Amino acid sequence: MTDNYYKVLGKIITTLALTFSLFHFIAQDGEKLFKANCASCHNPIKNATGPKMQGVLQKWQDAGEGDLIYEWVQNPSKLYNSGKSKMAKAIWDWSPTAMTPQGHLSKEEVESIFTYVDGYAPPVAAVVGGADSGSASGASDDSSDYWWWVISFILIFVLFAIFGVRRELSAAIAVKEGKEIDPKRTFATSAREWFLRNWFVTMLLIVGIALFSGVELFGRLYQLGVYQDYMPSQPVAYSHKLHAGKMAIECKYCHHSAEKSKHAGIPSVNVCMNCHAIVHEGPQYGTEEIGKLHKAAGYNKNKQAYNLNEFGKRIEEPIVWNKAHNLPDHVFFSHAQHVHPNTANIDCRQCHGPVQTYTLGRVSTIDEVNAYAKTDEGMEKGLIQLTKPLLTMGWCIECHNKKEIDLTSSGYYEEIHNRLKLRADVNNNIFEDDKVTVKELGGWECAKCHY
Ligand code: HEC
Ligand code: HEC
Ligand code: HEC
Ligand code: HEC
Ligand code: HEC
Ligand code: HEC
Repeated sequence: MTDNYYKVLGKIITTLALTFSLFHFIAQDGEKLFKANCASCHNPIKNATGPKMQGVLQKWQDAGEGDLIYEWVQNPSKLYNSGKSKMAKAIWDWSPTAMTPQGHLSKEEVESIFTYVDGYAPPVAAVVGGADSGSASGASDDSSDYWWWVISFILIFVLFAIFGVRRELSAAIAVKEGKEIDPKRTFATSAREWFLRNWFVTMLLIVGIALFSGVELFGRLYQLGVYQDYMPSQPVAYSHKLHAGKMAIECKYCHHSAEKSKHAGIPSVNVCMNCHAIVHEGPQYGTEEIGKLHKAAGYNKNKQAYNLNEFGKRIEEPIVWNKAHNLPDHVFFSHAQHVHPNTANIDCRQCHGPVQTYTLGRVSTIDEVNAYAKTDEGMEKGLIQLTKPLLTMGWCIECHNKKEIDLTSSGYYEEIHNRLKLRADVNNNIFEDDKVTVKELGGWECAKCHY
């Protein structure tokens, strides 16, 4: 009787522990994905750069577009342009900033995000403490993780305690019934027997633990050295979608050193002031964000004049933009070599993705670049498809091996071509497949890219 009772209790607890960790795993997956991909623009319960997310799935389902919402998340402009979604049409002009396509997420992953936001409740601490919600929610995330570990630990402890008690009881019953107790019968042997008897639960437990730790480990390793999709926050809500997209301002108008130097450079506030000395109001933020430009430039919009100090110099406080792209110090990369019309003449979007649809600058993903390369616009710009993650060595090397050089385009190449003809080692290579790539010009030599 007692034996059975503990057996059942043991089973219940193991099952509970399992479901808890499994549930935690799924919920956290959605939470992680939301934080990594959506939280820069969306809040579950408040409008931000993007609209609030709670109940959105229901809204689209009610409109009969429960399936299209996944297409939206994966590629908003594609769904919008297809004209088949009235929900996409309805939300498109919600903000002048474009939603970043999330094509790297599977339907299941997006589902897990909606599960997370629909179950989201604001952290209590933020309300009680009246603390800034950003930092409060950050803190509670860490501690919730911590509490899961504590609960798991307690469950395991209880499980072992029950084994112990059960063993004592069996021993006591055995003594009472006058049975012999096997002195060699240790906790380990009982445990083994228990596991053998309950092989199904054991198997589930092992698979569960392996899966959980495997995915955790993989997730952590995967973050190492991969910069794709990184978008730091910025002091001003600047939007490429508005400036380079809607207004179609040339990339090089602002990033004007790209053709001449190693760095493309971030424009100084003076470049912004070419227009914002006149344009004082934006469609989304009114005068708030442009006001920051005026402050940085030391511009008084009422007087239409710059503030000057006693020496007649402008009083400026430069805007400090955060860098999204960052190659390690041991790598040499020059924009001029890649974008100048007389050199590689590669379009910015080959390496930065469809920036004209982004708000803030960010490291694109290879999937976005490839998706854009397939569009009419991308083909017109001569973009090629690559496979390695952006900013990795594999990415540089792959392109240097694939990107053909148009030897007829300029005097520069004629001269290289002539030099190449004299090199027996590369000669075969060229005339074998009739292609000259950067590799043949030495683009695979370590010293070209490493200091
Ligand atoms: C760069 C900012 C940005 C990111 C990142 C982003 N979104 Fe959006 N999202 C928007 C904007 C802005 C809109 C409103 C549409 C518009 O104005 O073009 C929107 C709209 C939506 C809508 C439609 C809302 C409605 O009310 O119909 C859904 C659904 C959505 N986003 C889901 C997501 C999910 C899921 C993620 C993360 C995987 C995500 N978004 C990441 C900016 C973003
Ligand atoms: C061949 C690939 C490639 C092309 C083409 C390219 N970039 Fe870059 N870009 C990079 C890499 C790599 C970095 C990171 C450089 C670093 O961290 O040193 C970068 C960094 C940047 C930065 C950050 C600031 C800086 O200068 O480091 C800006 C802005 C930028 N690129 C804009 C542009 C613009 C605008 C164009 C087109 C005129 C362009 N890029 C073309 C690869 C490219
Ligand atoms: C060629 C002209 C031009 C340049 C250069 C320019 N802007 Fe703008 N910007 C505009 C116009 C026009 C608007 C308002 C658009 C509208 O009302 O639809 C605007 C709007 C804005 C807004 C308000 C967005 C909103 O939705 O409220 C911000 C912020 C902004 N610009 C930042 C910048 C920054 C930062 C720079 C410099 C890096 C810059 N702009 C350079 C023309 C320009
Ligand atoms: C009106 C000025 C303006 C125009 C036009 C413009 N940008 Fe930018 N760009 C900025 C500013 C300001 C930043 C810094 C803030 C940010 O990251 O959004 C920036 C940031 C970037 C970054 C991220 C740099 C880093 O590593 O931090 C890239 C890449 C970039 N721009 C590429 C482009 C491309 C490609 C185009 C053309 C499609 C373009 N930009 C057009 C003003 C501009
Ligand atoms: C989209 C294709 C592409 C990518 C990505 C790319 N490159 Fe290049 N790269 C080229 C082309 C094309 C040339 C040839 C330019 C020329 O004619 O001098 C070149 C030339 C170079 C050169 C000069 C080689 C020489 O022989 O003088 C260096 C250095 C270089 N790239 C470094 C890099 C680094 C570092 C990266 C990665 C961070 C990178 N490239 C990514 C296409 C690319
Ligand atoms: C076309 C440019 C290019 C060439 C050629 C090149 N590398 Fe790299 N290499 C890079 C870039 C970019 C990185 C940084 C990758 C990162 O941070 O993930 C890198 C990183 C490395 C690293 C550090 C690994 C790491 O993960 O940080 C080593 C080691 C290295 N390269 C060795 C070499 C050797 C050896 C050669 C010659 C056989 C070579 N590279 C040729 C661009 C190049």
